Amino acid sequence: MKPRIAVFASGNGSNFEVLAGSCADGTIDADLVLCVCDKPGAFVETRAERFDIPVLSFRARDFESKRDFERMIADRLDEEKVDLVCLAGYMRIIGEELLERYGGRIINIHPALLPSFPGAHAIKDAFEYGVKVYGVTIHYVNDEVDGGKIIAQTPVEYTGSDIDELETMIHAAEHKLYPATVSSLLSNLNK
Ligand code: GAR
Repeated sequence: MKPRIAVFASGNGSNFEVLAGSCADGTIDADLVLCVCDKPGAFVETRAERFDIPVLSFRARDFESKRDFERMIADRLDEEKVDLVCLAGYMRIIGEELLERYGGRIINIHPALLPSFPGAHAIKDAFEYGVKVYGVTIHYVNDEVDGGKIIAQTPVEYTGSDIDELETMIHAAEHKLYPATVSSLLSNLNK
């Protein structure tokens, strides 16, 4: 059986789309079996429907605690026999329940060269700081924000002054790095 991936996202879902497309065309030798979204109505859900990928959509506020909604998510990951969780713009800190049950199998993409510029506004923070080499990081998820072991990084050199242009460049770098990294992680798993 092919490895089974779930992608967690909160918004636009361009990284979800690239991962789904790569699984569909065989670039990644895996099945993307679930999209988990904490913002019902986010565009990532439309993208998932187009790929015929089931969506687990929830609102955190409908649960008593983080542990409760993460238990619901982890139960579904168990049912779907998920091997790897890819966070792709999932704007929540992963809590104890998911780390206890899926720790070591959750990776995240971050639009900066960690450990510089962690957090939710990395591109803007790096731009305002005035760096000349930006980049993208893929890392394992642990209990620190953007703090787990780094798996892959790619630099993006930019000396211009247009943040929209910079964002486009960083997203393009993400869309190359994420499928390539997932693919190589999975092939190493199988060795
Ligand atoms: C991506 O740039 C991703 O790196 C970032 O959110 C964006 C989601 O875009 N994640 C973080 O900032 C995590 N700290 P997408 O919804 O189009 O994939």
